[in-house]
Amino acid sequence: MMLSRAIKFAPAARSLSTSVQNNMKVAVLGGAGGIGQPLSMLMKLSHPPAFVDEVAVYDIQHAKGVAADLSHIDTAAKVTGHDGEGELADALKGSNIVIIPAGVPRKPGMTRDDLFNTNASIVASLAEACAINCPEACIAVISNPVNSTVAIAAEALKKHGVYDPRRLFGVTTLDVVRARTFIAGKKGFDPKDVSVPVIGGHAGGTILPLLSRTEPATSFTDEERDALTHRIQNGGTEVVEAKAGAGSATLSMAWAGAQFAFALVRALNGEKNVVECTMVESDVTSCQYFSSQVELGVNGVERNLGLGDLSDYEKQKLEAEVIPELQKSIEKGQKWFHEQY
Ligand code: NAD
Ligand code: LMR
Repeated sequence: MMLSRAIKFAPAARSLSTSVQNNMKVAVLGGAGGIGQPLSMLMKLSHPPAFVDEVAVYDIQHAKGVAADLSHIDTAAKVTGHDGEGELADALKGSNIVIIPAGVPRKPGMTRDDLFNTNASIVASLAEACAINCPEACIAVISNPVNSTVAIAAEALKKHGVYDPRRLFGVTTLDVVRARTFIAGKKGFDPKDVSVPVIGGHAGGTILPLLSRTEPATSFTDEERDALTHRIQNGGTEVVEAKAGAGSATLSMAWAGAQFAFALVRALNGEKNVVECTMVESDVTSCQYFSSQVELGVNGVERNLGLGDLSDYEKQKLEAEVIPELQKSIEKGQKWFHEQY
């Protein structure tokens, strides 16, 4: 009797990865950092329909302290802390979603690409650990330069034969969060009512807000359009300069990262019509990885919604600025990985 039950239930257990998830575990790698701490807290504060049952906080140091602190918050999610590489496997095992904000942030005068040399190997090694310990997890890469680190993570997963393009994401949500905020400020809207796609990549001119598709429908003079586009593209630098050497966006990034993670949780739980802008493997343009509106589902990416209608201004920027720079950054990441590994 026991044996036949076991046999009967084996296929159902295997099929869990392609059906609705119930116990949701989120691992935050770099969880003791400027982004990692508030992001882990937002996971701990989660509630239905995006409830996270377990938050695993991992860092090279101080994650146990962060976890102890968070664990006293009177919400239901369990929090565990994991310090150092020896404890990484435990943090990852059973994770449905892994969020990676590990790595160094910019200082004034630096580009995101200036972080490449340090962060490339951090992301590669963490992606490899995911491949080994939670090959079916959805992985959300925050570490910069995102335009290269997503490609690096993909190569690391491919090396282990577990790359699934539906489950690897570059987090570009902060660009959408900024676009909503800045448009709302300009037009007197409540930011929560504003919808606007931001496509391309996550660095300067590769960030392309599609202001022509703003909802509620509104119009911009050419000067307003140029100024808003410039501010959205340079939002990160605005914060880096204001922090004057103390790092880059952490709190707004934690908020944005949590919005993306919660969208994934809802989609993995079976909710329909969950749409987010995120960088995924893509055939929407000639760039292998490209951020556009993506419908999420129980397996991660369900459907890429593509570019949609673009104004002439947006088309020109896409061709002349976004695609050439993003393409170079993707290739840089891929080349670096194959030289190292
Ligand atoms: P931070 O220095 O405050 O925190 C980074 C954390 O990563 C530290 O706690 C550090 O110990 C940890 N870390 C370093 N190596 C690690 C490893 N191998 N494994 C696990 N953890 C490791 O930096 P931050 O402000 O949190 O920023 C982190 C990254 O996120 C930066 O690269 C930054 O540029 C990027 N970022 C991206 C976006 C985005 O929109 N995608 C927005 C803001 C910041
Ligand atoms: C941001 O957009 O705030 C991040 O990418 C951090 C940075 O370096 O600007």
